[in-house]
Amino acid sequence: MNQQIEIERLTDGVTSVPLWTAVREICCRTGNDGAAIPAERWEIFGRIWIEPYRLLASDWTYVAFANGAAVGYLTGCPDTVSFARRHFIHCALPLIGQSVFGRYRHDGYGRRFARQALWLERSALRSFPWALRRALPRSHPAHLHMNVDADYRRSGVGTHLLQRYCDDLRRAGIPAVHLFCGAAPVPFYRRNGFRELAAVAVRGHPVHAMALDL
Ligand SMILES: CC(C)(COP(=O)(O)OP(=O)(O)OC[C@H]1O[C@@H](n2cnc3c(N)ncnc32)[C@H](O)[C@@H]1OP(=O)(O)O)[C@@H](O)C(=O)NCCC(=O)NCCS
Repeated sequence: MNQQIEIERLTDGVTSVPLWTAVREICCRTGNDGAAIPAERWEIFGRIWIEPYRLLASDWTYVAFANGAAVGYLTGCPDTVSFARRHFIHCALPLIGQSVFGRYRHDGYGRRFARQALWLERSALRSFPWALRRALPRSHPAHLHMNVDADYRRSGVGTHLLQRYCDDLRRAGIPAVHLFCGAAPVPFYRRNGFRELAAVAVRGHPVHAMALDL
């Protein structure tokens, strides 16, 4: 596919509101290992996976446009330790309340989020050895999530998003970045310089810890 790819960096300002909507929608169209998640879960899925980045690290999210349409996004933050602390207070706690007592109490995905946030059920991250979980955000402070719409994969969109994020991290003096992903995107991250640090199985699915020095 021959297409022009442009990357836009978001902010928490008014002009970025439609872009945050686009990010949420792409996330829900692709969030199930590249496939769409069920329509009834879109709201809580966006609350869990996108809203924390809008609230806590709003200028580290990027949208990719191909021929004018939003087709991919990258959410990230330069300081995972600080993000995780603020995430628990400002995002996880309110969502736990809504998942146990409020609007998401009938949603199994919300209840699982609450159980994992309260350490009652093992999350993908907590399936890795404690030493790695502790060391990785300190040795590789930034992290990221990214997804590209199915029709636009393998045409350079993901590479453009990743390069732009890594360039901005370097400019901000961040030494390294990490992420956790399933098996399918591992070749993409390897091709972009990441190395694999560890892999575990979570409910029968492999999860890989990948890292890149900037
Ligand atoms: C992983 C993903 C973000 C990569 O973005 P992309 O736009 O498809 O990647 P690019 O076109 O920039 O890079 C393509 C190159 O990466 C590698 N690559 C990408 N996806 C691959 C895959 N699924 N299997 C093997 N190699 C892959 C190949 O070398 C490919 O080059 P080629 O097409 O010439 O062989 C995108 O495919 C995606 O959203 N996948 C589904 C959801 C997902 O896994 N997200 C990652 C969660 S962390």
